[in-house]
Amino acid sequence: MKPPPAPVRRLCALVTAAALTVLTAVAVQTSVAPRAAALDNRLVRTPPMGFNDWNAFGCNVDEQLIKQTADFFVSSGLKAAGYEYVNIDDCWLERTRSADGHLVPDPVKFPDGIKGTADYVHSKGLKLGIYEDAGTKTCAGYPGSLGHEQTDANDFAAWGVDYLKYDNCNNQSDGSLADYKARYTAMRDALANTGRPIVYSLCEWGVNNPATWAGDLGNLWRTTGDISDNWNSLKSIISQNAPLAPYAHPGAFNDPDMLEVGNGGMTATEYRTHFALWAEMAAPLLIGTDLRKASAQTMNILTNPRLIAIDQDPLGVQGKVVASDAGTTVFSKPLANGDRAVALYNSNDSSRLIRSNAAQVGLGKSPTYTLQDAWSGANTESAGTIGATVPAHGTVIYRVSKGAAATVAPGTSLSISSPTVGASNADGVVSPGGTSTLTTTLSDYGRVPLSGVRVTLTVPDGWTATPTDAWTQKSLGTDRSLVTNWTVTAPATSSPGTVPVNATATYSWNGHPASQQQAGSVLVATPPPSGDTPLSDVSWVSASNGWGPVEKDTSNGETAAGDGKPITIRGTVYPKGLGTNAESDIVYYLGGTCHALNTDVGIDDEEANNGGDVIFQIYADNAKVADSGVLTNTSPVKSLTADLAGATWLRLHVDPDGPNTYDHGDWAGPLLHC
Ligand code: GLA
Repeated sequence: MKPPPAPVRRLCALVTAAALTVLTAVAVQTSVAPRAAALDNRLVRTPPMGFNDWNAFGCNVDEQLIKQTADFFVSSGLKAAGYEYVNIDDCWLERTRSADGHLVPDPVKFPDGIKGTADYVHSKGLKLGIYEDAGTKTCAGYPGSLGHEQTDANDFAAWGVDYLKYDNCNNQSDGSLADYKARYTAMRDALANTGRPIVYSLCEWGVNNPATWAGDLGNLWRTTGDISDNWNSLKSIISQNAPLAPYAHPGAFNDPDMLEVGNGGMTATEYRTHFALWAEMAAPLLIGTDLRKASAQTMNILTNPRLIAIDQDPLGVQGKVVASDAGTTVFSKPLANGDRAVALYNSNDSSRLIRSNAAQVGLGKSPTYTLQDAWSGANTESAGTIGATVPAHGTVIYRVSKGAAATVAPGTSLSISSPTVGASNADGVVSPGGTSTLTTTLSDYGRVPLSGVRVTLTVPDGWTATPTDAWTQKSLGTDRSLVTNWTVTAPATSSPGTVPVNATATYSWNGHPASQQQAGSVLVATPPPSGDTPLSDVSWVSASNGWGPVEKDTSNGETAAGDGKPITIRGTVYPKGLGTNAESDIVYYLGGTCHALNTDVGIDDEEANNGGDVIFQIYADNAKVADSGVLTNTSPVKSLTADLAGATWLRLHVDPDGPNTYDHGDWAGPLLHC
């Protein structure tokens, strides 16, 4: 799907940068005297649930869309599931205020005005939200509320608005905390003065650490820049929002931005991670897709009652990170009835076995625990270990309670792994005609033992998989595993790419036959040719980028493939290279056959007027072997040399050094020596 409209994103990035750097500030008009510190409007004791048009429609909002969405909330069961707010984002108003200084709803988009639209939404038993900006103009250039706080708040209240998202573009700010607090306090007080309960949602993109102060001013606050409908955006937002758990409480929640579920830019697994972790992190559940076209799969995600219950748990606590390791994270969220919602999140590009336990997630001692899979509702029993094989980019989420009925099956996990995979989107790697080791692991977490255990690995026709250890076992007790190594051979004729493999475990527990499957994949890869080869002539195994695809032999044009320009750093043009946009990772299979990489790096001259700052890093397997330090759009060209001797994998990483601000990082003239 489309990224958010580029002009608006650019505008916001520009304003963010301006907020941080402009030194002479226009004094902020805070006409209202400061009030008591804490916001106490008694609203959103649990995170708000609803809809906002921005992610799917950008500026194309109108009354019909809002009314149809309200109708759909009722007819589809979304209202019954808890969704309540139907929120209008930017672009609902006229380009200028009225002669007497009021905001004017666009009469073409909103023929009944905001009042008429709100009346309709209220008649459905739902609530209406609106958008404004703590600046002179909204992000899309419509009149802002800075200096007009009370007039605008009075109009919102008179129209029947129930929720205000208050943005940060064109803020005329010196970037100071005092200014941020003053601008957002002015609207808090203006809203309070109206006497109408209005949810107050601060949207300053996490610029001034709002988690540390916004709970006194508003009901929720954005913690990051804008989400976009792709995995890198989601992953980055999760990592920024997760550490802020201590700041959330009833009436005051971290807001990692609106949902992209259903918009088409991510896989079903990624959208489930999005929804599961928003629930785990007590985030607002604001649907951001065109509901009139939502698939059954999208609706199943959005209406899962067990996940909604985790998000809406009355304790109102955000799940905390209790363990993290190599791209895997365990979150635990205390729930009102004493249970814990435990999320096992895998941000890696291949599946991982993730294990936690009752003590680590904060549950007291018990001989058994019940793990309810929040997606499926299925229960398993555990003596204390909370474990699962989690797919690439996936999240397994359990509601864990003390005690378990005797009829509940023991929890198990089956995984496929390989000692040789350092960075790849597969569970193992092999060259044509070569061999590689894959490991299967079946574990029992239940009190009940497994008997007659048997694990097999199936590979495609022409391949072989031979166990070098035991693959059957009479009985497997609590927290025991059957670990089997398999020698996998690829036919000499196999072509590069991933091939599927499958592990199957069969066993019985208390006389019940049971089985489990785990799908995996092996990458067939050929090492680069010997001699010196421009890296852009070598096929990568995987490539990810902040905006648009990684480009070969041009800079990054941000959107479609092939939209870049000749790679140019400080006036030097490079015919060969890789054009990226941080955060970016490009992975190559070397198979131990190469010894070095030389490259120049820098921010492309196409961003000469915009800024940008990045760090270029080169990894050989998991070891960092070169680092450019921070480079800006004025830094001279930097040359890097990386020692790759013996490495199976090469990874080129471009770090955005904070948020991505025009971070067009070029790997200029990289030459691989093999
Ligand atoms: C900013 C906000 C977005 C959206 C747009 C509207 O970028 O962060 O969520 O409201 O403005 O212009």
